[in-house]
Amino acid sequence: KTDQIILGIETSCDETAAAIIKNGREIVSNVVASQIESHKRFGGVVPEIASRHHVEQMTLVIEEALNQANIQYDDIDAIAVTEGPGLVGALLIGVNAAKAIAFAHGIPLVGVHHIAGHIYANRLIKEMKFPLLSLVVSGGHTELVLMEKHGSFKVIGETRDDAAGEAYDKVARTLNLPYPGGPHIDRLAQEGQPSIKLPRAWLEEGSYDFSFSGLKSAVINTLHNAEQRGEKIAPEDLAASFQNSVIEVLTVKTVQAAQQYQVKQVLLAGGVAANKGLRQALSEQFDGMEDVELIIPPLSLCTDNAAMIAAAGSVLFEKGKRAGLDLNGNPGLAL
Ligand code: KG4
Ligand code: ZN
Repeated sequence: KTDQIILGIETSCDETAAAIIKNGREIVSNVVASQIESHKRFGGVVPEIASRHHVEQMTLVIEEALNQANIQYDDIDAIAVTEGPGLVGALLIGVNAAKAIAFAHGIPLVGVHHIAGHIYANRLIKEMKFPLLSLVVSGGHTELVLMEKHGSFKVIGETRDDAAGEAYDKVARTLNLPYPGGPHIDRLAQEGQPSIKLPRAWLEEGSYDFSFSGLKSAVINTLHNAEQRGEKIAPEDLAASFQNSVIEVLTVKTVQAAQQYQVKQVLLAGGVAANKGLRQALSEQFDGMEDVELIIPPLSLCTDNAAMIAAAGSVLFEKGKRAGLDLNGNPGLAL
């Protein structure tokens, strides 16, 4: 047997996911059970409900991933599981499922950082070339990550307050859009004009950090002020203006960092990577640049899934990383 087979497991937030990948780059199966419908009426993810759903779904999702791939436990070289960051009760379901299978079948176990997974989703599309820069934009993270080799992550910039996805979800809530709000704002933004003046937080000269809470407050204030004056603001124009501000800052800082660090590739990662406006703005910026290649995963690999965890796990496994049966969920795990 020459192929490397990895089982990936992901339960850090509100998707129960399992996947089989071959030789680090080929998706054989990729099963995701979403809980979005159960959390919608609460306007966000309820940790206790998330854990209960993971308990119900985990075994079924793993079996489905194995069946679709026509793989037996004996064929698996390693189990890669998200150990953090995320909701601790949610993480523990995946970690314990992975440990049980590892113990019962004598399969090596590898703990994976959720953000490393988002970044490695790109390796399912294209082989990585170092040094590379990854713009990670999700519900919990907004980071520029520099990689000089496999498994090495240097955070050169991060949000000082809200994550980009968090800002999207909060702005969506003030516009009475359902959870998760990102895709709804994205859709509205395509229909509107960016005619409302909103701030851009550039921070200090040369800083690759981000800040979105001021922008979020500005959107809320704009709505309230208009309401008090008895004026109506078109939600699509507000969405377009908000989205423009977020995208401009993300794009400009990514281009600057890519040039400063002379990277060969720029990878887009995380749930907000599904954003149409962001994908288009980055494509326009990097299209003309000959020395830098922009990689953007398909939508299904941007939001949480287990193929990306398996992809990161494959590389870590080859590098000799192993977890013991004392592996724990770590909600604050550093990259
Ligand atoms: O990576 P992800 O699935 O979960 C985390 O690890 O956080 O990201 C979820 C986030 C949510 O905030 C959601 O609103 C946002 O990604 N999102 C979007 C879009 N699709 C998902 N934000 C903006 N535009 C989108 N099209
Ligand atoms: Zn995620």
